[in-house]
Amino acid sequence: MSKFENRIIREISKLKKKHRAIIVAHNYQLPEVQDIADYCGDSLELSRIAAGTKARVVVFCGVHFMAETASILCPDKKILMPDLNSGCPMADMISVRDLRALKHKHPRAIVVGYVNTSAAVKAELDICCTSANAVSVVKAISNDFPKAGSREIIFVPDKNLADFVSRRTGRKLIAWDGFCPIHARILPADIKRVKKFHPRASVIVHPECLPEVISLSAAALSTSQMCKFAKTNKAKEFIIGTEAGLIYVLKKNNPGKEFYPATQKALCSDMKRARLSNILTALEELRFEVRVKESIRRKAKKAIERMLKII
Ligand code: 13P
Ligand code: SF4
Repeated sequence: MSKFENRIIREISKLKKKHRAIIVAHNYQLPEVQDIADYCGDSLELSRIAAGTKARVVVFCGVHFMAETASILCPDKKILMPDLNSGCPMADMISVRDLRALKHKHPRAIVVGYVNTSAAVKAELDICCTSANAVSVVKAISNDFPKAGSREIIFVPDKNLADFVSRRTGRKLIAWDGFCPIHARILPADIKRVKKFHPRASVIVHPECLPEVISLSAAALSTSQMCKFAKTNKAKEFIIGTEAGLIYVLKKNNPGKEFYPATQKALCSDMKRARLSNILTALEELRFEVRVKESIRRKAKKAIERMLKII
């Protein structure tokens, strides 16, 4: 690490104390960001941390919907993002208007939404889910939850996650046509090619991957579940089907094991916008704040809290 970077890190640390701030980082963030974060994790873990922290300021190194989720859960805290332009192309694939039209077509359906949605879309949901708990959330939906007698389930916006959940639960889902363009770059041919070179490696992938990719895997897991799987599984080599940033955490926590990305093309540029320099600026100026309008926040909070009660 350069002298300059060390100086920035010292400065960040001083400002964290001054403002009673914490830094949280998603598992796809750049190594230098993960290394200075107080907590790293998947979307579910980061929501829980944001909900439980005593800090006054949270610097959220992730994408916009994640910071919004933190703001929905803790409106009394200042939620800052190093770069407000860090969006999620999948979350942008469904608007409030789209969802209202779908609900209009299926008025009795229970509406399940992936956490990768805007706060305004979350306000339209009955219940939220993440990749870590989507199967449990759908399993927990009984005919009287939360709309009496409802049999249909709408699932937005990720059609690949919907397909995965539907296969695991046996429930038919009315899925939106959204997808993660980054995970869609991982193809079955990539898995087969890497497997040829490393035949003993266990294949683990994210449920945002294409169904044909998931069907070649030993497990489809959230990013933190992948970390736990790699740690506890007896395999010594793993082929990783998710955004390439996860390889850094996996290697860091498992020095005796080998991790091969299914492809180098699965890189989410939105997840790489946080840098030491813009984290410092956010803390120096307490700016780049994410705040959700109160009328939306109250409705969106219900959907998130329902999820947090299940898992
Ligand atoms: P996780 O919740 O599994 O970390 O996934 C978030 C995400 O955006 C995956 O692309
Ligand atoms: Fe969104 Fe995909 Fe990037 Fe995750 S990897 S933040 S789902 S675009």
